Amino acid sequence: MSDIHQQRVLVLDFGSQYTQLIARRVREAKVYCEIMPYNAGIEKVRAFNPKGLILSGGPSSVYDDGAPLISKEHLDLGVPVLGICYGMQLMTHLLGGEVAKAAKREYGRAELLIDDESDLLKAIGGIGEGESASSTVVWMSHGDRIERMPEGFGPVAHTDNSPTAAMADKARRFYGVQFHPEVVHTPQGFQILKNFLFGICGCEPTWDMGSFIDYAVGIIREQVGDRKVICALSGGVDSSVAAVIVHRAIGDQLSCIFVNNGVLRKGEAERVPETYAQMGLNLKYVDSSETFLSRLAGVEDPEKKRKIIGTTFIEVFEAEAAKVEGAEFLAQGTLYPDVIESVSLKGPSAIIKSHHNVGGLPEKMKLKLVEPLRELFKDEVRELGKELGMPDEIIWRQPFPGPGLAIRILGEVNAERLRILREADAVVLEEIKKAGLYREIWQSFAVLLPIRTVGVMGDERTYENVVALRAVNSKDGMTADWVRLPYDLLGVISNRIINEIKGVNRVCYDISSKPPSTIEWE
Ligand code: XMP
Repeated sequence: MSDIHQQRVLVLDFGSQYTQLIARRVREAKVYCEIMPYNAGIEKVRAFNPKGLILSGGPSSVYDDGAPLISKEHLDLGVPVLGICYGMQLMTHLLGGEVAKAAKREYGRAELLIDDESDLLKAIGGIGEGESASSTVVWMSHGDRIERMPEGFGPVAHTDNSPTAAMADKARRFYGVQFHPEVVHTPQGFQILKNFLFGICGCEPTWDMGSFIDYAVGIIREQVGDRKVICALSGGVDSSVAAVIVHRAIGDQLSCIFVNNGVLRKGEAERVPETYAQMGLNLKYVDSSETFLSRLAGVEDPEKKRKIIGTTFIEVFEAEAAKVEGAEFLAQGTLYPDVIESVSLKGPSAIIKSHHNVGGLPEKMKLKLVEPLRELFKDEVRELGKELGMPDEIIWRQPFPGPGLAIRILGEVNAERLRILREADAVVLEEIKKAGLYREIWQSFAVLLPIRTVGVMGDERTYENVVALRAVNSKDGMTADWVRLPYDLLGVISNRIINEIKGVNRVCYDISSKPPSTIEWE
């Protein structure tokens, strides 16, 4: 079997918001890529043995106090280096060139005039509308610029505002670009990265999810041997893909457990286990809804709800897992963004995972972890799911929180309020899917508010519940913006909810972004 990790590139992170995007683009080009913080240390970088090194952008100026710097040894690995934005300025600084504040910040779209199209910018110019043969559109975001290139470098491209917008020292294979090739606003950016990976680094495209299956299956078999693995399934894409690939490796040595916690969406308690069964998974369906709901009775505080659901889940799961005699491993859908060591400049990193239901389980039950997706980005997990023949319904499922509808019913969770929210949520999903927007939106759902308002239906005055609609776009749940849903679609959803669901007489649309709001209302 060929080693899909052999062709590898390393991205050193200097705190850019786009660092993960660089790595994703490289992987899209079928070259394996990892991210390390800029201060990982030269030994770690050498040990990784990359075929090319990419220095990311970042918010600093090389002259700032405490700017993230690296030793010059990083440039002596004998492999090509591509510096992007701050990465280019840092390279210039380290190699004896000059970086200075630009008179004008350059932000957004710029026309890049190509001076040398022999390698990095090969086959780039004149493709977009209105571009001349030697120009292309790029995305800029910088305050500093290169005043004087280091010795050995020559110009590759310029813009009106940046006399050196791209540069190269071809003998040493050092390249720098002031713009961001990784973002979609640089239409030929992917081609530029491919020119670097294939033309300059000499990589071969060996990283793809079809080959990843063979690799992961081998690793899982080696780790697990003939022992048993358990897995908590939620219906979400990560845990599902993890379970399916583990099942592919060890078959029925894997036992999956799906807990009905009483706060699932409409039809989910039936549909989800059925889908898993169709995929051949050995699945135990546990209906503990009554236990969960009785413990939630009268509880209004969101954190208390989370705690009750979390601890009850662990209790139920533990009892079920104990029935799987001799289970030594727990399979989990941990992804690469959860394990990337983040650069401290970014501030506190993701806290999303702290609400994960099975957190704490492995230590408590003395289970070892099987995490077959630890190397993958979300889009790769979806691709892997597709390669594994999984249904779209699971692969494209929007994230759904562990505490389920309980944190979307503001105030007390009871059977009647669950009925209302389940129905409203089902209408939202149905209409969003019908409009072809489901995959594009990060999350779209309904929230039941703890207030009643006056309405009029027929000739009668009503005093009923209010449902809020929420639809957000996000990359990772850390920040989000509300989706500009078409008015007509909002109208249809509102009408259907008020007319079809007894107990609702008003619908509102949430137009807050995160921050300062959050995605969920509780
Ligand atoms: P917030 O509301 O914090 O949500 O902006 C960010 C993302 O996390 C999900 N979320 C949760 N997921 N347990 C989970 O498993 C939770 O308690 C929880 N709270 C929020 C939320 O749906 C969004 O995707």
